[in-house]
Amino acid sequence: MKNELLELQEQVENCKKCELWKGRKNAVFGEGPEDAKIMLIGLGPGYNEDQQGRPFVGAAGKLLNKLLSYAGLKREEVYIANIIKSYLPENKVTKDQIAACTPYLEKQIELIKPKTIILLGNVAVKFIFEKFKLPKALMRDIHTKPFSLSTLFLKAKLIPMYHPAAALRNPGLRSAIEEDWKKLKTIL
Ligand code: URA
Repeated sequence: MKNELLELQEQVENCKKCELWKGRKNAVFGEGPEDAKIMLIGLGPGYNEDQQGRPFVGAAGKLLNKLLSYAGLKREEVYIANIIKSYLPENKVTKDQIAACTPYLEKQIELIKPKTIILLGNVAVKFIFEKFKLPKALMRDIHTKPFSLSTLFLKAKLIPMYHPAAALRNPGLRSAIEEDWKKLKTIL
């Protein structure tokens, strides 16, 4: 791993910038090739992720692996990160936690320089859209729609997608989400 990425991981593992550190067993920094062309951004670790210190290894992760295959992607070739790096009970996140944690994600993006960033769910979309001053939009209107991002530091395509957990919470959404990932194959 690039030294800077390793240093960043160490900072995350020792981070006490918000109260979530008290409830974590393992920080979940993120994983994948440091030169990945595609980065995925989810919300934050659940129970299984906290136990293992790895992103998307629970039920949503199993589904994500399948969805990635629909898009013609292997999990090993993408970098998987989250907005929040410590166990998030019930996936409830506050503005302050996002403000404390996202400088780590910003640095990950800067170091990995992905060409495509897949935003999983509303929290990731809201954070990245606000950061890059893209207009507010609803997931139902923008899922699978690519947005071009061009800044001094990063040129990338942003693609909002429903969070895989949405298909688990709402089985009625599952086939639409599966279709979205099949469509993604033609967009990538
Ligand atoms: N959900 C997320 O958003 N991230 C994970 O790492 C696991 C579940």
